[in-house]
Order: sequence, then C-alpha cells, then structure tokens
Amino acid sequence: MTSNQKLKILFSFKEIESTVNRLAGEIRRDYVDKNPVIVSILKGSFVFTADLVRRLDFPLEVEFIRLASYGKGKESSGKIIVKQGLHFPIKNRHVLIVEDIVDTGHTLVFLIDYLQKREPASIKLCTLANKPSRRQVPVSIDYLGFTVPNKFIVGYGIDLGEKYRYLPDICVLE
Ligand code: IMP
Ligand code: MG
Repeated sequence: MTSNQKLKILFSFKEIESTVNRLAGEIRRDYVDKNPVIVSILKGSFVFTADLVRRLDFPLEVEFIRLASYGKGKESSGKIIVKQGLHFPIKNRHVLIVEDIVDTGHTLVFLIDYLQKREPASIKLCTLANKPSRRQVPVSIDYLGFTVPNKFIVGYGIDLGEKYRYLPDICVLE
C-alpha cells in the first residue's frame, strides 16, 4: 500500500461468508437437478468462485474464462479482451456466470453474447457486487451479493493493478 492510499473495510469476511451462504441457497434451489456449468470470470472471481462452489453440494462443473477491460488504473477501457477463451462445450447446458463486480456492464454484455453463440440451454448471472450507479449498458442480475456505492473496491480476489487480491475483506480504497 502506498502512503496516499487508505483501505477501509466495506464488507468484512464474516459478512461475505453469510452472503455467500445465502447466494448458495438461492442457486441450489434453482440448479440442484440441472448439472450446471459454472463459468467463472478470471481473475477477479477466483476467491468468490472457490467459496461459492464449496457450498453447492450437488453435481456441477466449473470452467474459467479470462476477460480484461481494465488497464492499471480504475477506469474501464470499455473494450473487452478475451485473454483466455472457453474451451468447453456448453451447448444445451445450463450456464451460471460467476462475476466479481458488475460496473459499466460492458463485460457482461460481451460475455453473454459470447456464450449465447454456443447455444446453451440457459444463461444466468451471479455477481458478488453490483455498482448500479456506474451502469452504461443494461445487465440483468439473477443472484446478487452486495450493492456497492460508486467507490473503487479491492480484496477478496478483487484488485487494483493486480494488488490487494489477497485481502480477506472487501475494502474501499480512498
Ligand atoms: P464492467 O465491464 O465495467 O462492468 O467491469 C467489470 C469488471 O471491472 C469487473 O469484473 C471488475 O474486474 C472490474 N471492476 C469494476 N469495478 C471495480 C472495482 O471497484 N474494483 C476492482 N475492479 C473493478
Ligand atoms: Mg472481473
């Protein structure tokens, strides 16, 4: 941490734990007999995905896709780059996207279109955090952890320029 950046806890690891439990309950109800494919968006969702799937005690598969839209700073470029594509057939499968944050919405609009071309049976979205005040394109969220203010958050897998992913809590950078 540089001297001009202060971290303030927004959601503690305890609050995150109970939120992940709640989300797992909601997802379980809808997917218990569907053998879904979880598509986790790297890198930001890796901690959330690991916690979430361990609470889903029914058959499912986990796949990863790596997308990027941010440079080193806090602003999205709006242009989505596929850094690592999905190498797994999802035709006629129920897909659940697991994301860390929906911000402008561009990443999700891009990904839903990318997945739709592969003709899945269904696509739904679970995101740990949502920043509705920043939205530029509409995205419908099926399972939501936290609504966050228009502040830059880090921790619990979420980074700023690859830093802070290791923090157990979700913090605001001030
Ligand atoms: P969107 O395409 O603008 O919706 O951006 C989505 C991606 O931007 C997320 O998956 C995050 O990786 C990143 N992002 C958005 N807001 C934040 C934040 O507050 N902290 C860290 N990353 C963020
Ligand atoms: Mg992300």
